[in-house]
Amino acid sequence: MRVAMIGTGYVGLVSGACFSEFGVHVACVDKDAGKIERLKRGEIPIYEPGLDDLVARNVAAGRLSFTMDLNEAMQGVDAVFIAVGTPTRRGDGHADLSYVFGAAEEIAANLDRYTVVVTKSTVPVGTGREVEAIIRRVRPDFAPGADFDVASNPEFLREGSAIGDFMRPDRVVIGATSDRAGEVMRRLYRPLYLIETPIVVTSLETAELTKYAANTFLAAKITFINEIADLCEKVGADVHDVARGIGLDGRIGRKFLHPGPGYGGSCFPKDTLALVRTAQQMGSPLRIIETVVDINDKRKKQMAERIIAACGGVVDGKTIGVLGVTFKPNTDDMRDSPAIDIIAALQAAGAHVRAFDPAGMAEAAKLLPGVEWTEDAYAALDGASCMAILTEWNEFRALDLKRVKTLLKRPVMIDLRNIYNPGDMAKAGFSYSSIGRPAHPAEARS
Ligand code: UDX
Repeated sequence: MRVAMIGTGYVGLVSGACFSEFGVHVACVDKDAGKIERLKRGEIPIYEPGLDDLVARNVAAGRLSFTMDLNEAMQGVDAVFIAVGTPTRRGDGHADLSYVFGAAEEIAANLDRYTVVVTKSTVPVGTGREVEAIIRRVRPDFAPGADFDVASNPEFLREGSAIGDFMRPDRVVIGATSDRAGEVMRRLYRPLYLIETPIVVTSLETAELTKYAANTFLAAKITFINEIADLCEKVGADVHDVARGIGLDGRIGRKFLHPGPGYGGSCFPKDTLALVRTAQQMGSPLRIIETVVDINDKRKKQMAERIIAACGGVVDGKTIGVLGVTFKPNTDDMRDSPAIDIIAALQAAGAHVRAFDPAGMAEAAKLLPGVEWTEDAYAALDGASCMAILTEWNEFRALDLKRVKTLLKRPVMIDLRNIYNPGDMAKAGFSYSSIGRPAHPAEARS
C-alpha cells in the first residue's frame, strides 16, 4: 500500500515512520524546506526515543521518503493523511483549522485516483465533512463517493512513548464515510490484527468526538487526583494510596492518577479548551471540562505559591534551583508546560531562577527570559536557597543527595512530581514537600 502524510510534526512524522514499518510506502510532505532537508539528511527535528532509528531503517528500505511536492507524494496512493497542526485560535479558544483546510484544497488539486482523505490531526466534530465539501468545491467533476472518501483516524500516541503507542495501541478508531474507505483503513492497520488490537469503525463525527472525549476525560482524571491530593494534605492522607485504592477498581483504572503541577503539553490544554468552545456553541455545555480548564490554569500559580511558602514566604533576591522544565520527561516539548507559568510567577516575586533540563532548555530559553541555564542538575542547585523539581526526568530520581545538601544554602526541596519518598528525605535531612502526602514527622528531620 502507499500513503502520503501531510505534516511532519509529532503526529505526522511518527505515524508516517510507523506505517512504513508496517510495510506501507509512505511519502511525508511538509512546506518547511529546512525541515524536509534535515529529514532527508536523517536529522530528526523532535526528541522522541527510537524515532531516529525507525526513520533511518525505513528510509534505507525505500519505504519512507520526504518531499515538499504533494503531487509527487500523492502518486499512486491509497490514502492521504492530514497531520498538520490545529493550534488554539487566538482570541476564542477554538481550534485553528486553517492548515487543515489549506491541505484539503491542495489534496483536491492533486487527486487522480480513488483516494481516502484521512484527518489524523485532532479536529473538531464536523471538520471531516468540511474537508469533503472543500474537495468537492475545488473538484466539482467528482461524482459523490466515486473518487475519494473522507475518513477520520485520530491518533492517541503520547510524546516520549510515541512509537510504542502507535505500534501497540489500546485501540484504533476509524471514522469512515463508506465501506470502501473503511476497507482501505483496515488494510493499513492489518499488522495490528495480529496483536488483536480492537479497531473501532464508526461514523466520521463519532471518531472526531471520540478523540476529544478521550483527551478531556484524561485531563479531568488528572485534575481530579490533583484536587484529591490537595485535600489529602489537609486531612493527613496519602494521595498515592488513595490513587491505588481507587485505581484497582477496574471501573476507574490505575493510570493517569499521578498528582502533579497540572497537565500541560501539546494536546490536553488545547483540546480541553476547544471542546469547551464546541460544546458551548452547540448549546450543550460541558461544565465539568470548563471547571477542569479553570482548575488547571489556577494550579500553576498555586504551585509557585507553594515554592515561595517553602522558601519561607519570601523569594525576593533569592535563587531557586529548578530541575526540569518540559511538560513531561523524554521530550524537548515546552508547549503549555506548567514550568512556564510557575517560573514566571517565581520571577515576578523577585526570585532568580537557575534551571536545568536534559532536553528542553533550548526551547525553554525562548519562552523564559531571565532564567540562568546550567550544564547539569548540580550546577542549578549550587548556592540556591531551595530546589524545585518540576519534571520527573529519570536522572533527577537518583541525585546524590549528600552533594545536593552541600550545594544548597538550605536543604529545602519542593518535589512537584513526587519522585522522592518523604521518609527518606526527612532521614537525609531535607525539609521536603511534595504533593498530597503527609509531611514526615518533624522529629525525623535534621
Ligand atoms: C496526551 C494523550 O495521552 C495522548 O493520548 C494524546 O494523543 C496526546 O495528548 P501527551 O500530551 O504526549 O499525550 O502526554 P501525557 O503523557 O498524556 O501527559 C500529559 C500531561 O498530563 C503532562 O503534563 C503530564 O505530566 C500530565 N499527567 C499525566 C499528570 O499530571 N498525571 C498523570 O497521571 C498523567
